[in-house]
Amino acid sequence: MDDYVRLTYQGREFRLPLVAGSEGETAIDISRLRQETGLITLDPGFANTGSCRSAITFVDGERGILRYRGIPVEQLAERSTFKETAFLLINGALPTQKELTRFSVLLNDHSLVHEDMKIFYQSFPRSSHPMGILSAMVNALRSFYPELQNLEEEINITVTRLLSKVRTMAAMSYKISRGHTVVYPRSDLTYCANFLNMMFDSPVKPYELDPDVVKALNVFLILHADHEQNCSTAAVRVVGSARVNLYAAISAGIAALWGPLHGGANQAVIEMLTEMSRHGNLDAMVARAKDKNDSYRLMGFGHRVYKTYDPRARIMKQMAHVLLEKLKLSDPLLDVARELEAIALKDDYFIEHHLYPNVDFYSGIVLRAIGIPTNMFTVLFAIGRLPGWIAQWKESMDDPAWKLCRPRQVYSGPGERDYVPIEER
Ligand code: CMC
Repeated sequence: MDDYVRLTYQGREFRLPLVAGSEGETAIDISRLRQETGLITLDPGFANTGSCRSAITFVDGERGILRYRGIPVEQLAERSTFKETAFLLINGALPTQKELTRFSVLLNDHSLVHEDMKIFYQSFPRSSHPMGILSAMVNALRSFYPELQNLEEEINITVTRLLSKVRTMAAMSYKISRGHTVVYPRSDLTYCANFLNMMFDSPVKPYELDPDVVKALNVFLILHADHEQNCSTAAVRVVGSARVNLYAAISAGIAALWGPLHGGANQAVIEMLTEMSRHGNLDAMVARAKDKNDSYRLMGFGHRVYKTYDPRARIMKQMAHVLLEKLKLSDPLLDVARELEAIALKDDYFIEHHLYPNVDFYSGIVLRAIGIPTNMFTVLFAIGRLPGWIAQWKESMDDPAWKLCRPRQVYSGPGERDYVPIEER
């Protein structure tokens, strides 16, 4: 096979090298394109552009494969914990027992949030969305905790601090939004159990931890832990490329994740299913989603990369079913979701467009069963995605080829024209 492609332009031939990934993907290296040809590429939404080489996550959208550091997500969901998966993503290998214990100690040591930060929470209007608050608070962490020097130990502490505190901050924002007393982290609880306890324990009704719920939260977070160069991760890398501190880069990722086309879809799905269960006319909603003149879309359907069933959605669907059974709960929205999926998967439009349920389609049902309020859904996605963002940020910082991210454009505005004084306009 050739190791380059030929580009012919204005009678000259240029050779563009090919780059192969470890799973056989091939890319054209255009890093010298402009220098050699004067041309740039145009790729709205970067649908055909690889921005980096990465050894963290492999996604094959045609075959529905997702692996973290080579390990299938199905195996991690079944056998790992979120804490262990976070370690795997950030450090490249599963931890030994000693490493895991050390990681747990660090997570516990850094779980408290500076008391002064509580005042910030109280200053946000009660109606503020928790994602806006989380993004602001993570950015504010930089003012409370020192700038990273490039020492490995310090990076580890900053990373663990962030993983631990984001969980505390998320639970804190929920408690304060309800006007309830903040519950502090406990060192005798595991990562997920600790979060649930901080969310739901109360002086009048102690929270009883249910191992099925703890397991479900672990799986939910594992399924969200990384997804290669998605919108929020790209935001973390782009913002990080200006060499800002880690907190600012993660804060940008949280802001990007909030959008309904990305992580905000989990909230939007539940709102859509609620609307459908009220009005009952699923066919009419599906017809709207197919109408080219209507911007309405089925939330939780479709994906930039997956052109088959999202492997995360398969696990999430199964988990929603099992969890509701174990908790002896019934959720009418699960029935609506199943019915909607059945209609869409038989519909020519969805078949031709390769639109299948994505991770967000069933995740809200799981979160509702756990007791998470709808406006906190995307915050849970953010807690899950945090190890991925950190791993990708770390990888970009260590990559000798990583540069300031600064795309070009094809200018389409007016040609040069003179300034007109205001009285002559
Ligand atoms: N409902 C109806 N039509 C859709 C949908 C949908 N959910 N998604 C895509 N399409 C159609 C779209 O109208 C277009 O049709 P046509 O080619 O005839 O104009 C075609 O499919 C391609 O859509 P696109 O917007 O060009 O594709 P994309 O790769 O840019 O979009 C997406 C990916 C996720 C933004 C989109 O599928 C979408 O808006 N889905 C709903 C929101 C959602 O569930 N987002 C969560 C994504 S998974 C979690 C995460 O990783 O963020």
